[in-house]
Amino acid sequence: MSVEAIALLRNKRVVLGVTGSVAAYKAVDLASKLTQNGAEVNTIMTEAAQKFVTPLTFQAITGRPVYTDLWAANTLGLATHIAHVGLAEAADLVVIAPATADTLARLAGGFASDLVAITALAARCPLVIAPAMDGGMYEHPATQENVEKLRQRGAIIIEPEEGRFASGLSGRGRLPETGTIIGAIRWAFSKNGGLAGKRVVITAGGTREPIDPVRYIGNRSSGKQGYALAQAALDAGAEVTLISSVHLPPPYGAKIIPIETMRGLLDAVMAASADADLLIMAAAVADFRPQTTADQKIKKTAANVDSLSLPLTHNEDILEAVKVARQKSGFPRVVIGFAAESENLLANARAKLERKGVDLLVANDISASDAGFSVDTNRVTLLTKDSDEQLDLMSKAQVAEIVVERAAGMIVSG
Ligand code: CTP
Repeated sequence: MSVEAIALLRNKRVVLGVTGSVAAYKAVDLASKLTQNGAEVNTIMTEAAQKFVTPLTFQAITGRPVYTDLWAANTLGLATHIAHVGLAEAADLVVIAPATADTLARLAGGFASDLVAITALAARCPLVIAPAMDGGMYEHPATQENVEKLRQRGAIIIEPEEGRFASGLSGRGRLPETGTIIGAIRWAFSKNGGLAGKRVVITAGGTREPIDPVRYIGNRSSGKQGYALAQAALDAGAEVTLISSVHLPPPYGAKIIPIETMRGLLDAVMAASADADLLIMAAAVADFRPQTTADQKIKKTAANVDSLSLPLTHNEDILEAVKVARQKSGFPRVVIGFAAESENLLANARAKLERKGVDLLVANDISASDAGFSVDTNRVTLLTKDSDEQLDLMSKAQVAEIVVERAAGMIVSG
């Protein structure tokens, strides 16, 4: 996860419910990341949770009181079960991580038998639940029914991951990484952004054009800028389809379409963008592919020992295909392209903007070592039909936020 602050979390009042799973220690990291990102975190722990981690740990990490005892009085002299109803009502979000099978049953049944359950009942804000439990408990029909009930009521359930449990058994029930839980919380906060309800398609990574079953022609695109754009669009409330050739941790809430070749990318883009509000082509598409792909691995032979020629053919230009489709259908409504340039950046980028029919072109100088491929920073120039603006060196996440903000403006005014 990015170390820079997540704007959506700043000054948010988050109530963190921790229940009695061995994964409770992971909630400490979650509390820490939320706090580092500027959220005010009030922790509530069940009795069982305190067998795994002490309240003091959360208190130290969050700098806030930790609520543990249903009947104890707080600093105002109110019984805790009353005091924290106020806490629940004032909360922007309640997250329960880890949530045990017992907690899921209490929440689904509407019981108010512990502080976490009372808080969830009293809260009127989004509820994010990260179940975690050992063995086959998560798959049990009773648990599944409870999960479904909660989902139907609007709770955001973070699916647990497959893996090995403390008991030695394996299965689905592990608490996901903090980054995934933060992603879900981010998603819950994103609903009123500038792209709320808009359909956004983003491409990321470089295409791989096969030579034979083991070799391909590729490029050095890491996909980082595309993923950052997907996260920024999700933060702005968009429904995001991310068409990707790389395997980075998927941003929570995005629909991922994996592709490898230009052909696969072309088909996926044409299908997904046919009714999209916005297409951002951040993928580095190979301009050439081998004329034929060998069925078997190409072996070293007497004939090719000195040299091997590989005839290449031109790939279609996806943005140009989109331009034609868009002239007929009006979709995607706004199109953004990228340009990787190693010389004459402005002149080349302007020609590309026109040739590809994009509304905004994000041009990179790939000769700079602190920008472009693989690194986390980028220095880009934004070009439209009648303007160009060079941005300072900044993180790819910041570039993504600016591009998404501009795109939202274009959709509204378009
Ligand atoms: N692009 C595309 N289809 C291709 C090649 C590129 O849609 N076959 C898109 C990229 O996703 C990017 C933009 O076009 O948004 C510009 O890509 P770039 O590699 O900079 O340009 P090229 O079209 O390859 O032009 P050149 O090789 O002349 O720089």
